[in-house]
Amino acid sequence: MAYIVFARKWRPRSFGEVVGQEHIVSTLCRAIETDRVAHAYIFTGTRGVGKTTIARILARALNCEKGPTPTPCGECSACKDILSGMGFDVMEIDGASNNGVDDIRELRENIGYSSMAGKHRVVVIDEVHMLTKSAFNAFLKTLEEPPPNVIFILATTEPDKIPATIHSRCQRYDFRRVSAERIAAHLAKICEAEGVAFEKAALTLVARKAEGSVRDSLSLLDQVCSFCGSDLSEKGVREVLGLVGTDVYRGLMKNIREKDQAPALEVVQKALFDGYDLHEFIAGLQEHLRNLLFARIPGALEVRGVDLDADEAKVFADEAKDFAEPDLMRMSEIIKKAQYELKRSAYPQFLVEIMVLKLLYLDSSASVEQLLKFAKEHRGGDVKKKVELTQEPPPRSVTTVETATRRPNVDEQAPVKTGVNTEKTDRQTPPKTDTGTKNTPADALVAEAAVCRPLAAAAQNANINKDIEKEPIIQVLLNIFDGEPLNQ
Ligand SMILES: Nc1ncnc2c1ncn2[C@@H]1O[C@H](COP(=O)(O)OP(=O)(O)O)[C@@H](O)[C@H]1O
Ligand SMILES: [Mg+2]
Ligand SMILES: [Zn+2]
Repeated sequence: MAYIVFARKWRPRSFGEVVGQEHIVSTLCRAIETDRVAHAYIFTGTRGVGKTTIARILARALNCEKGPTPTPCGECSACKDILSGMGFDVMEIDGASNNGVDDIRELRENIGYSSMAGKHRVVVIDEVHMLTKSAFNAFLKTLEEPPPNVIFILATTEPDKIPATIHSRCQRYDFRRVSAERIAAHLAKICEAEGVAFEKAALTLVARKAEGSVRDSLSLLDQVCSFCGSDLSEKGVREVLGLVGTDVYRGLMKNIREKDQAPALEVVQKALFDGYDLHEFIAGLQEHLRNLLFARIPGALEVRGVDLDADEAKVFADEAKDFAEPDLMRMSEIIKKAQYELKRSAYPQFLVEIMVLKLLYLDSSASVEQLLKFAKEHRGGDVKKKVELTQEPPPRSVTTVETATRRPNVDEQAPVKTGVNTEKTDRQTPPKTDTGTKNTPADALVAEAAVCRPLAAAAQNANINKDIEKEPIIQVLLNIFDGEPLNQ
């Protein structure tokens, strides 16, 4: 017998087998039980989440010889016919290719004649948003008063394109994307039934890649099985799906932590050389950061959505010790921005390289304790020395900061080179040009920030603004500095 792909072979036959969509299944079951099935529905939702499947199950539920019942027998001829999608009781029309007035007229005539006594006929119009305006108009009357026992199901991925006049004649059910966790569990069940051995992480990867679509996950599973045979390893799946390995990201994070530029850039080069897609590369890095972040929050790894094995979780927990949450969040922002820009970049590789460098140059956020400690030591000490003494590595960025208002002793120095944070601090302070005005405490602090990277980070975190004096942490700092000039 010809091979049947998993997506077809494993189409749910009853409401009980549907994964997710409980809100829809339970409403429909109650409607069937109480004989309140509407004559027109809009099923919206992304591809492969069960729209056609549920339409077919509904047809079975209504036409089963033992029905109408929410649990059709699956044995009688009505049930069998509907399952194959060939029966008279279900009519599936592709709205994209039958989108004109004439098609709708023809449909109207067909269903008018064909609804047989006692039988329900479920007419599914797929991609219904593709109908032309006049086709929709021609359809209105039929939809309002359809022939007896005809139920229309208008399936669409773009409900906003359906006119309001159609909407108001239908009940609308929004199908949700299915969580990766549930998809992975579904895949595990199928693998067991098919005699396919698997690593849990392998199925998790497939489930994630499917982005909430069960059909996509099954198609991917087919593909992965053809490559790996009946033993699915995480490594094999990564290879088939073109996903960069965790070890690569782990290495990159190490480079970032240690500010090793060349090896970090090499990771990007190698990914490209190995034929990986840069979008995938960045998405994987984002996912890696997410795991690190969750690993730092007690109990969060067990939270739904980060489905790692205990061993993997432990590795992430170890790795995460080297990163603070605020830093991970700021890194994630940088990656997100690159992800967005990558779509329209003419030179994607360079964009990703810049992203990696930005991650490298990112200062670690100073904690309040570090900051206070620094401030205390700093007072009366040697500024340059103290800057070097903090755990911050020497600045690599070469932005020359032109803080407009500074204390003279800072101002007269050679241009101060600072890291990325300071740029932001600068921007947040209104530029001033005269040199004679009295410095406000905020100005003074910005001036300090220009020399002192931890302060810059803190100022940024404190969201420096006109009311800066009101920030409790800044008040403490100002007390410590007490308006004294910094020694050099
Ligand atoms: N909610 C679901 N539960 C279980 N399998 C599903 C679900 N949604 C989709 N599938 C699988 O994907 C295939 C296609 O689903 P279908 O209902 O045709 O998607 P669509 O929403 O695009 O109409 C089904 O044959 C089934 O194998
Ligand atoms: Mg469909
Ligand atoms: Zn039946």
